Amino acid sequence: MADAGSYRGVDRLGAGQLAGLLPDPAGMRPAYRHLAQAIGELILDGRIALHVRLPAERELAAALRVSRATVTAVYDLLRESGYALSRQGSGTWTALPEGRALRGVARYMRAADTAIDLTKAAPAMPEDMLRDALAAAAPLLAEHTRTAGYHPYGLPELRAAVAERFTRRGLATVPEQILVTSGAQHALSLVLGLLGRPGDRILVENPSYPTALDAMRRARLATVPVPVTDSGWDAAITESTLRQAVPRLAYLIPDFHNPTGHVMPEQERGRVLRAARASGTWLVVDESLAEIALDVPPPRPFTAHAAPGATGQVITIGSMSKTHWGGLRVGWLRAPSKLVTELAAQRVASDMGGAVLDQLVALALLARDSLPARLETLRAQRAALVDALAEHLPHWTFRLPPGGLSLWADIGEPVASPLAERALDYGVRIEAGSWFATDPGVFEQRLRIPFTLPPAALREAAARLAAALASPDLTSASAASRPRWVA
Ligand SMILES: Cc1ncc(COP(=O)(O)O)c(C=O)c1O
Repeated sequence: MADAGSYRGVDRLGAGQLAGLLPDPAGMRPAYRHLAQAIGELILDGRIALHVRLPAERELAAALRVSRATVTAVYDLLRESGYALSRQGSGTWTALPEGRALRGVARYMRAADTAIDLTKAAPAMPEDMLRDALAAAAPLLAEHTRTAGYHPYGLPELRAAVAERFTRRGLATVPEQILVTSGAQHALSLVLGLLGRPGDRILVENPSYPTALDAMRRARLATVPVPVTDSGWDAAITESTLRQAVPRLAYLIPDFHNPTGHVMPEQERGRVLRAARASGTWLVVDESLAEIALDVPPPRPFTAHAAPGATGQVITIGSMSKTHWGGLRVGWLRAPSKLVTELAAQRVASDMGGAVLDQLVALALLARDSLPARLETLRAQRAALVDALAEHLPHWTFRLPPGGLSLWADIGEPVASPLAERALDYGVRIEAGSWFATDPGVFEQRLRIPFTLPPAALREAAARLAAALASPDLTSASAASRPRWVA
């Protein structure tokens, strides 16, 4: 099953692979400039990795059906603008131009401004919640300072608390099955690092959480997408993909899926578990959003649907980021204890262990039941966003998600990327649907709109988005104001 969505091979990009990522050059004037710009954007998006060798000019010319001179001009322009470097006798390699940042980090490096930030579906934490947790953690920290403080598996008391939460949610768990990590993303990276080898296939939902997709690209894995549509997953497609592609790993977000908000029905979970078992695939189940259940009971842990004795190839990822605060950087994974030991060794090689203070604060937060208040706030914010969209953008449609942190809106025409760009001029940051796609150029009719900000900010954001949408000549003007590309 080929993946045309992005380059995740080894150190060389094939001509066919690159051509598959690029727009059809027929009719583009001048073609070399459009092609060079498209390659630069794929590099900034992380869809083409840095430090990989670009195809030989002649091969790319044949794959794109353009002249060799055109490809020479493309490569010259890429070199001039810093997106490529040539090494004597060893071809042309992708590079990051001076002063540019990859898109995955660029949005974290911006100076604070007055724009309403809808790029992150993650709530802030009430100040008093943190104050109380710090007060509870301080005396415990004093005790810990009498030790060396390294805990590669996580603080024993936090492992026990996380295990107990799984058990309470319907999946008997012991602390030895838990590894505390610096967030869900860290947990995923550890798993990909231990179990994935360059070129291995990984089944992913399309759309999916972009930072997870980025981690897969960096691990040089080949994504095999299965669709998540307005009606959710199609278990038959997931089963046949597992059967035919026999991927080494599969990454799923079955609870209030980011970005669509869907919950995978219980009987589909059993089917996926059985199919993954048959294909020998490691299932990596991201339950970061599982507790953000706004209208339905929180789903039971995915692994609870496995037949007894059939949980060996399932890894569950969880996090404090959605229930409490992303800035804590505390998450975990649940896996067979032998695998936890291997993953702990992997983590020692990267960071030795998580910060004791952060974990004590996490422990104090888990001991308090602050979730009902958080869910109430999110329900009010979701209602405010729904009302504001009805008022300002009544032709946008969406399914009201039963939980999670965002709407996956259909904006009626494929202008999400230019709209997101234009919205910056109107003081709103937002991600277009294509950012969540495994393949470029899809979900252009979608916007993910988080409801993690206070109602007033959401109302203002909707009004500003409507103004941006109504601004003249949306598509062409935005294309002209694309990131500062070479002249
Ligand atoms: C599905 C999913 N997984 C993982 C993460 C990252 O979580 P963490 O902050 O714990 O690394 C997010 C955050 O947006 C997410 O939505």
